[in-house]
Amino acid sequence: CDLSVVIRKLEVWRQLFPRIKPFFAVKCNPDKMVTAVLGQYILETGFDCASISEIKLALDSTTSSNPKRCIYANPQRAMSDLEKALELGVRTLTFDGLEELHKVRRLYETRCRQWQEQDEQDTESARPLLPEMVLRIVVPDGASSVPLGEKFGAPPARVAALTEEALCLGLPVVGVSFHCGSGCHDPNAYGTAIQLAKEAMDTINSVILSHQHANPHKVDEPWLFRPCTLLDIGGGFPGIDGHGGDIGRFSGTPHELTDMSQHNAYAQNMENATSSIAAVVTPLVDQLFSVQEEDSNHQPIQIISEPGRYFVEAAFALCSRIYSKRIGERVIIERSETDNGSSSSIFRRHYYIAQGVQGVFKDVLLCGESFLPIPLHMQENHGNEKNPQHLDPNDATNNTLYPSTIHGPSGEDIDVVCVDCMLPELENGDWLLFDRMGAYTLSIAASSGSLPIRYVFGGGILSNDNHE
Ligand SMILES: Cc1ncc(COP(=O)(O)O)c(C=O)c1O
Repeated sequence: CDLSVVIRKLEVWRQLFPRIKPFFAVKCNPDKMVTAVLGQYILETGFDCASISEIKLALDSTTSSNPKRCIYANPQRAMSDLEKALELGVRTLTFDGLEELHKVRRLYETRCRQWQEQDEQDTESARPLLPEMVLRIVVPDGASSVPLGEKFGAPPARVAALTEEALCLGLPVVGVSFHCGSGCHDPNAYGTAIQLAKEAMDTINSVILSHQHANPHKVDEPWLFRPCTLLDIGGGFPGIDGHGGDIGRFSGTPHELTDMSQHNAYAQNMENATSSIAAVVTPLVDQLFSVQEEDSNHQPIQIISEPGRYFVEAAFALCSRIYSKRIGERVIIERSETDNGSSSSIFRRHYYIAQGVQGVFKDVLLCGESFLPIPLHMQENHGNEKNPQHLDPNDATNNTLYPSTIHGPSGEDIDVVCVDCMLPELENGDWLLFDRMGAYTLSIAASSGSLPIRYVFGGGILSNDNHE
């Protein structure tokens, strides 16, 4: 892991989205070093947490842990998790339906009752904090690799009724959030979603005003009528876009490798994707949420986001050693017209590595992701030790490329990381390097401690050990 990539991505973010504070989506990569690095930017970053373990990781990320820097952005939570989150001081909670509102209300009442009972016994515990609700709305997410709209989000037509119900339950609705889907390729999807969120915020604010007029006896509950001033534009920002040293960080200069690795073609397609999103988002938020205007009660509008893969996809790579090799069936290779148009045959290579689609490469099955390896040959050093070396595709001795299939360790038919990528002849003990492994991939195995991570910062090595 190169942590300097994470910081460079933050620097780029600052320039592209000056008014939007990123809350790193911890689920994307719950790595202690990543949260520690982002956590130190106390005024500039926060954390989007989907579980209690993520909340704890976020709170542990700095010595001055602050629950205000966390949003509990999973709208479907177990009662026990909600309770724990409130105990830990996290009170910004998303919701998209009535059930969650009722759960939060019940929990809050129980906590208040317990507090009163304790108070009667003269303890000095503080009154439980009132949860602050953020309404997650559904927005078009067809331009993303992993759409989330079917799972989460209230339709715009439900905004007024949900707000009314929240207020009747004594829960303030302080913000609106959405998610355009992970790996969103269409800047206009953000434009449309922000417009929808603005409409939802306007609806919420008018419901708050009417509720206030209809319930004059509730004047002693001013917090209930605080206006909706938080806009959360979610995640979905591409992880590779040509900024912050994210292309070819581990695999060498991408252009040298284009013949062998389609992922560099992917990287080129994605180039400037985040700046294209910023070109839509930044002027639009200025237009819709003017800095001077603020809201009717002069509360500043706060805009946050929940980028996950943006920060970490390019910061991690995986090296996996080939432990078994098999020469497979004959494959016909069609030559191009410039190559006389003739065809020839070649034997497919099968290589076996310790990571497969049930683990770090699960996105092969989940969303058809392709992970293409860079081959590393083991070469003798002066002192007899062998070290992995990048294979130079321009080297004449490496010129024969074979259709090669990379298998995971389970032996199951589906456990195939990639099919027929063109690789030079490799042997047992050679290594395959996969870059772009930081988002929803390496972290799955790494968080259970099964993969040792070597952390570097730019050129310097920080640690050889996992999470130290
Ligand atoms: C609520 C929420 N926020 C943020 C994210 C992070 O998305 P991404 O990694 O695409 O930025 C997700 C991903 O599933 C999510 O569900």
